[in-house]
Amino acid sequence: MDKLIIQGGRRLNGTVSVSGSKNAALPIIVAATILTEQPSTLRNVPDLMDLETLCHVLEGLGARLQFEKGTLLIEPIDQKTYQTPYELVRKMRASIYVLGPLVTKLGQAKVSFPGGCAIGPRPVDLHLKGLEALGTTIEIEGGYILAKTNQLIGTEIGLKGTNGSSVGATANIMMAAVLAKGTTTIQGAACEPEIVDLANFLNEMGAQVSGAGTTNITIHGTKELNGVDYTIIPDRIEAGTFMVAGAITKGNIFISNAIQKHMEALTETLCQIGVQLDWQDKGVHITTPNPLAPVNVSTGVYPKFPTDMQAQFVLLNSIARGTATITETVFDNRFMHVQELQRMGAQIEIRGNTVFVRGVDHLSGAQVMATDLRASACLVLAGLVAEGETAIDRIYHIDRGYESIEEKLAQCGAHIRRIPAPSARISVAG
Ligand code: EPZ
Repeated sequence: MDKLIIQGGRRLNGTVSVSGSKNAALPIIVAATILTEQPSTLRNVPDLMDLETLCHVLEGLGARLQFEKGTLLIEPIDQKTYQTPYELVRKMRASIYVLGPLVTKLGQAKVSFPGGCAIGPRPVDLHLKGLEALGTTIEIEGGYILAKTNQLIGTEIGLKGTNGSSVGATANIMMAAVLAKGTTTIQGAACEPEIVDLANFLNEMGAQVSGAGTTNITIHGTKELNGVDYTIIPDRIEAGTFMVAGAITKGNIFISNAIQKHMEALTETLCQIGVQLDWQDKGVHITTPNPLAPVNVSTGVYPKFPTDMQAQFVLLNSIARGTATITETVFDNRFMHVQELQRMGAQIEIRGNTVFVRGVDHLSGAQVMATDLRASACLVLAGLVAEGETAIDRIYHIDRGYESIEEKLAQCGAHIRRIPAPSARISVAG
């Protein structure tokens, strides 16, 4: 397995460019492949393991996908297959995105149940509830979800779960409803920028989706959708991760392609910590002239503070002057990074869904293990600021969601290198 070796203590300086959004690209690729017979071209597609896995899932359904330098050409040919096997779905939970589109387009789907993952149980009850409301019969058999319908019929659907709105269920139901008969309204819809991007994409295909970005989305079903040429939005979580990299190293960096309106809760919190942000047309310039001040954070669904930045802010507070609490409200088990940060000298205590962090003078480089995508990002950041050498094992997790992270950080002066595994890349559940 590849490793990352980082010599900490270098200030970052220069420009780093944000790639396309993983979580916007995933449903958009599915929609482009399953909801139309016509070819599409997607641009600003990041080169990530998760997208590669999704492309294999879609190729298994009969499509042809060709990726080159950020552009994905999709030929949705021969779509008679409606089954996705466990071996592929287990590698990536977002494979569940094929469920709604397959049912609405082909009348049936057989998709392996995605199960839990490293960040806790990840139920799909809201996805299933929404599809049932639209007129799908759902059975669970042998670990597979069997879904059937003669025709989906638009209706009112509430998608708010106990931990807030579900991004995945909102996307799945939107994709199903665009080809349903009549009008669907989703109440308690997720408002994330990735949902807005999916809605914009579907509308370019000829769908009629309105209200995306609010908790009420209305979809008037249409009979057919077209192929399109579309550019995916930049990745706000990658941008946020670079902001934290700039802050902790007291760097001076320009993050190009970051979009201010996608990152308000995050940037507000960074300002409280003492980071100076100068937003410009094409991105944001970051400097941190003063010592880092601790800040309490509680995650929540958009527009609240993103759970996908929680690990990075645990790290930030670990080296701030004082104490802070960080509360995770979206996922049940998303503190896997804490144990590894403790090994680097951080003073953190977990109590229920909150961590108590007491800032220390410095972290020390250590051998640590990546456990999931954002925990891995947190460890890379920790390596940048720690004294001495940090070796991060199992970095396939980071390849799932960050394009060429070591190259991008090295361009800004980080001492970071990848030690390739003796054998080929390994993919894994997540
Ligand atoms: C999306 O996951 C993202 N993944 C996650 O990104 C992100 O952390 C998460 O949204 C929250 O922002 C993709 O977009 C591919 P949810 P998703 O459904 O859609 C509960 C990353 O690091 N829930 O919004 O799976 C669920 O358990 C990742 O890039 C139900 O109860 O998340 C959680 O508590 C990982 N029933 C909450 O809702 C359901 O049917 C939010 O989950 C579905 C979800």
